[in-house]
Amino acid sequence: MIDQITIDRIIDAANIVDVVSEYVTLRRAGANYKGLCPFHDDKTPSFHVSPAKGICKCFACGEGGNAVHFIMKIEQLNYFDALKFLGKKYGIEVEEKDITPEQRIQLNEREAMFNTNEWASQYYHKILKENPDGIAIGMAYFRSRGFRDDIIEKFRLGFSLDQYEALSKTAQAEGYNTDYLIKTGLCFRRDNGQITDRYRGRVMFPWFNVSGKVVAFGGRVLDSRTKGVSQKYINSPESDIYNKGRELYGIYQAKKQIAKDDRVYMVEGYTDVISMHQCGIENVVANSGTALTEAQIRLLHRYTNNITLLYDGDEAGIHAALRGTDMLLAEGMNVKILLLPDGDDPDSFARKHNATEFRQYVEQHQTDFIIFKTNLLLKDAGRDPLKRAQLTQSIVYSISVIPDEILRAAYVHECAELLQQNEALLLREIAKNKQAALEQLKKQQIIELDRQRRIEEGKVEGEEKNEGNEGNNENDKNDRNDTRSDSVEPTEQTNQVETSAPTQLQTQVPSRYHGIERMIMTLIVRYGEQSINVETNDNTTQKEPLVQYVSTDLKNDGISLRTPLYDRMLNEVVQHINDEKFVCSRFFLNNPDIEISREAANLMTERYQLAKNNQMTVDEKTMVPEYISHLLLDYKFMVIDDELKECQKRMSDPLLCTEAMKQYMELSEIRRELARRLGDRIFIQ
Ligand code: CTP
Ligand code: MN
Repeated sequence: MIDQITIDRIIDAANIVDVVSEYVTLRRAGANYKGLCPFHDDKTPSFHVSPAKGICKCFACGEGGNAVHFIMKIEQLNYFDALKFLGKKYGIEVEEKDITPEQRIQLNEREAMFNTNEWASQYYHKILKENPDGIAIGMAYFRSRGFRDDIIEKFRLGFSLDQYEALSKTAQAEGYNTDYLIKTGLCFRRDNGQITDRYRGRVMFPWFNVSGKVVAFGGRVLDSRTKGVSQKYINSPESDIYNKGRELYGIYQAKKQIAKDDRVYMVEGYTDVISMHQCGIENVVANSGTALTEAQIRLLHRYTNNITLLYDGDEAGIHAALRGTDMLLAEGMNVKILLLPDGDDPDSFARKHNATEFRQYVEQHQTDFIIFKTNLLLKDAGRDPLKRAQLTQSIVYSISVIPDEILRAAYVHECAELLQQNEALLLREIAKNKQAALEQLKKQQIIELDRQRRIEEGKVEGEEKNEGNEGNNENDKNDRNDTRSDSVEPTEQTNQVETSAPTQLQTQVPSRYHGIERMIMTLIVRYGEQSINVETNDNTTQKEPLVQYVSTDLKNDGISLRTPLYDRMLNEVVQHINDEKFVCSRFFLNNPDIEISREAANLMTERYQLAKNNQMTVDEKTMVPEYISHLLLDYKFMVIDDELKECQKRMSDPLLCTEAMKQYMELSEIRRELARRLGDRIFIQ
């Protein structure tokens, strides 16, 4: 945990313009700044930064928040790591308490595994640089491949000694638990109980996940030993912290550049990634020679829509390029492909060229994937009618998964020409494909609904019921973790990051309530500390902060806000409103509860809302007292009308009738009083 004082210091120190401009080129626009949004494919500058408010927001995709939110999103960090990141930048020490032996036990398994891997990566790295064998064998190998020191550091490359217990013994001596040496796959237990190193005499490539935690290792045998060794690479087995299908090698070192260039290069191997970095191209990740998964694509999609597949020009490269590509299209990525010239892979190509030449080559030679596939298959099929029909089917399928209709149409046009087919025919085939996919989806939905119904009716056994639910949650969690971070913070923290405000907040709360509560909260976040004149019971007026007024007014009528987050915000802020020099916007924006600070940033930037709903022409701030009392009355009207409806329902029940009738009269009376106060509302009952 980081204390509030430190949070305040960090947020105060973090100049939003300064922070954002490390990732986005900003231009001044009046008192604010504008630039291209780094979070979506922005063609005109939609990303606004307000130095006065300390927040940023994209008016196209809605992303934004304060400096911490921005760093969380762009660096893919959780809340605390983002604070630490900024703390480091501004030289503010964030106290991290040393772990006592008791606390170490309490750390959850995942964290212990991350710790162990982090240690191991440093251990291998040190061996490479300091151990005589490490230098003579491992370093010599990297040198022979031309890897520079800075690149060896950047990827924390290492070397494992050719001994059975080198790591195992050192780790145990330093207090690392053997359970985690085994769970991470660094070691395995022999039949005789000996804890044995998995990697021996290999150069080591640690895998960093998107937030920089070591999740796995790849160990490459040295060329001199390739003979008789069946496996060129040994990779970590899957574990609680490593799901191969969810990770991409190099993502941590590449993410910033991917967002900046709005393009990612996909290659096959570790060494391709590393050599490209060395030549100056940093927006590159590897999928380690397996087909891309949906989770990996989603991970990339956070940073860019554009992907270029870089493969060797040989048979295997072409084959690899065709695998998993429909999934990229289905996720809405624009896919290009480049086959490198004779005998080159990205690694060798990068060693022969500098970044400019490399980029230029890619620019000139990358082809749109659909066109590439069409041409490739056409060449293959020749004049064989059957093969050509299959080819058409395959292309049609690729096109039909593309979510963007306009893009689909463009492809149909293009491919019809290439295939010398009738465009209308292709369109019909695509429609058929989409229809089939839809039917499939419907079927799945029906099955799922049926399953849920049976669970509700108790027809499914208790055990399965639990399993089903847990299963879903687990998926959910994994999805988040994969795209966000393998965070060691409680997942709650991480989950909240995902909260896209209105949809999540609105769950269970009818939208008309949510809408008006949002407006009330907007006023509170912006002007909560402003004092307004309030009529007291003895008809005198007294001044009181707006927040206090809202809270008391609602409490007096026994009403609490229905959106849980807003209710929480109101309750918390009331407790502080009398603190010295209290400013609501600051309180909310700096709140350690990330859900609160995010929503506050949203409400701070909702610039048109107030004006639109109330046709305010005068300065927003001067209208606040009047506006808030109107909102509260409107709100209470809504509550009371709903209660009246409830009453009416109960009145038709003979058993409840008398009681309901009485309540109805009371409510009507309150409503009349409200209407009188509201003045402008015509009261018809
Ligand atoms: N790979 C693997 N196990 C193997 C071979 C390959 O896990 N036995 C994975 C590795 O992630 C590797 C990628 O597939 O990086 C691509 O394989 P390859 O091109 O053979 O390896 P390179 O990384 O290019 O290694 P090098 O250049 O040293 O041969
Ligand atoms: Mn290679």
